[in-house]
Amino acid sequence: MPTPSPVVLELDNVSVAYESRAGAVNAVRDVSLKVEKDSIVGLVGESGCGKSTLAYAIMRLLKANAHVTQGSIRVNNQDVYALSAKELRKFRWNEMSMVFQSAMSALNPVMMVEDQIFDVFRSHRPNMSRSDVLKRAKELLSLVRIDHKHLKSYPHELSGGMKQRIVIAIAIALEPSLVIMDEPTTALDVVVQRSILDQIKEIQREKHFAILFISHDFSLVAELASRVAVMYAGRLVENSPAYGLRNSEGHHPYTQGLMRAIPKLTADEVTIDGIPGNPPDLITLPNGCAYHPRCPFVFELCETTKPERYRTGESELECHLFASERRGSHV
Ligand SMILES: Nc1ncnc2c1ncn2[C@@H]1O[C@H](COP(=O)(O)OP(=O)(O)OP(=O)(O)O)[C@@H](O)[C@H]1O
Ligand SMILES: [Mg+2]
Repeated sequence: MPTPSPVVLELDNVSVAYESRAGAVNAVRDVSLKVEKDSIVGLVGESGCGKSTLAYAIMRLLKANAHVTQGSIRVNNQDVYALSAKELRKFRWNEMSMVFQSAMSALNPVMMVEDQIFDVFRSHRPNMSRSDVLKRAKELLSLVRIDHKHLKSYPHELSGGMKQRIVIAIAIALEPSLVIMDEPTTALDVVVQRSILDQIKEIQREKHFAILFISHDFSLVAELASRVAVMYAGRLVENSPAYGLRNSEGHHPYTQGLMRAIPKLTADEVTIDGIPGNPPDLITLPNGCAYHPRCPFVFELCETTKPERYRTGESELECHLFASERRGSHV
């Protein structure tokens, strides 16, 4: 049997809530997940299901009104929340980094690309000589296939795709073990998106880091990642190998809904079967399974009792349909 890769990111029963005037917004609920070295794990789910909140929690960058209310987050076996402020500053970018949602606009408009890359090295590698930093900056641009002349460019002189490539280059500048990418290509057209995704895969194969890749585009994630984690109303309702996501058999009803929602192109029309209804309010969640009001397979138990986590094959699912007496075994 092949030896398993080291676990880079380990989430154990993590919950995150925002304080709001209307009450606690339970944006992440009891999430457990592992991401191994050399792997890409996709995190998918509809808008508002808690994907970015989870990413911010991992980076320890939650907004002031948000708190991790339970669970542990470990990166390279280090509890991220046990680090002092000073240690955390070192840990971020060195060990874990993030490409933020709408990151393109995160580049400083009045700074040349060169200075934005230099900034990372200046704060994290203060002893590196300027010529070494320049060499490294050029290597990084080559990695994301951008001409070195653009070191002297300002963000407004670059296309959206180029800006996004630079943001990715900055995120991997210090060769962290974990890179979180939150919708890194959503704002780009499909051709540019495709070329960036191919590059992400290529760089990852060369550098061997782990990627948590967040997207609401199910088909994209299923193609890019080795495993796909599906989030609904703050919970991870399924965690499955990507290769198993080609047919709907054996998957959570919500995952099946996401699969059906992929646009299908036929000879003369595009069809999309959306999931009827909307995700629930995260302040007053439905009883039982949060998906039950939208689930086509709903039965009595779903309305009253939270499903536990079950394993079938290489998948983990939170759904009563997979209870041991039906299909799966308890996790
Ligand atoms: N600052 C905040 N205060 C209160 N609630 C918030 C705050 N930020 C986010 N939320 C709520 O937390 C929930 C999760 O939001 P989050 O941004 O994590 O979702 P997401 O899955 O990343 O969505 P998207 O696909 O749109 O990026 C949402 O219901 C959102 O309204
Ligand atoms: Mg988001």
